[in-house]
Amino acid sequence: MKEKLEKIMNDAVEKINISAKLEELNDIRVAFLGKKGELTSILKSMKDVAPEDRPKVGQLVNEARAKIEGVLEEKKTALASAAREAQMKAETIDVTLPAKKPMMGHRHPNTIALEEIERIFIGMGYEVVEGPEVEYDYYNFEALNIPANHPAKDEQDTFYINSNIVLRTQTSSTQVHEMEKGKVPIRMIAPGRVFRSDEVDATHSPSFHQVEGLVIDKDVTFADLKGTLAEFAKQVFGEDTKVKFRPHHFPFTEPSAEMDVSCFKCGGKGCRFCKGEGWIEILGCGMVHPHVLEMSGIDPEEYVGFAFGVGLERIALLKYEIDDMRLLYENDTRFLKQF
Ligand code: DAH
Repeated sequence: MKEKLEKIMNDAVEKINISAKLEELNDIRVAFLGKKGELTSILKSMKDVAPEDRPKVGQLVNEARAKIEGVLEEKKTALASAAREAQMKAETIDVTLPAKKPMMGHRHPNTIALEEIERIFIGMGYEVVEGPEVEYDYYNFEALNIPANHPAKDEQDTFYINSNIVLRTQTSSTQVHEMEKGKVPIRMIAPGRVFRSDEVDATHSPSFHQVEGLVIDKDVTFADLKGTLAEFAKQVFGEDTKVKFRPHHFPFTEPSAEMDVSCFKCGGKGCRFCKGEGWIEILGCGMVHPHVLEMSGIDPEEYVGFAFGVGLERIALLKYEIDDMRLLYENDTRFLKQF
């Protein structure tokens, strides 16, 4: 019996020692110590052992069991730590390798131009406001002195949501919203997206941006308008920039004008950039029409104002010498990265 036990024990220890996997250890445990294991079967054959020898044999079996369990446990720890070591080795990170450089975003030329315009007007005490892009016909046209059937309505090819609601064709609608608030004086700019049913080409897009300006106060004159916009032009295009006001017509201002700046490329001599003119048109402006004030609840006997509207893309294209508006919308990073 003793030899038999020893054989079982040696067998087990040998198998444990040569096993290379944790799962194998489990199989060995079952084979020797399990319910149907070799050691257990010895216990079952106790009935064949003489009664006086039973305690002795029992003790031997227990010793064998303890020995096998001890060796199993040791091997288990050794295998686990070897596995862990192998894993650590496989997952080593070489901290001396150069890091991946994250791709940095960058402001769009429109945004750069807008932030510059905002900075200039904030510096002159203006507030920056916003208005809705989906607008009632009333705010986009009617309240700006463009009633139904007025020919000026034809000049702006409009996206109609229904007969009453449009995608705004001009940021001038924000003038009306500001005046309706009933708080005067007003000194605001309102940048934003506008929409016109235009075909895409180098100078047109169905969606572009404008920056509206409105000043309402008691003693505002055309001289204030000129001084303000001349200063704006100098800050955007350089100290030597001259401005010229040409009479024009806008339904919501009277008198109205378009403002040209001297070509910053040739200084006014005429070049390819200004198409030989020496001047470049950049905005529309004028003194707010008394009827427009009246419709929005401001007394034209007491208050006067001036307004202007700048095409944001126009400023960006000029400033960065981009000759095709489509480049601004294609979002080709090779193009955008240059500004
Ligand atoms: N809203 C005009 C346009 O889209 C631009 C404009 C002209 C705005 C004169 C004004 C202004 O505020 O006074 O063509």
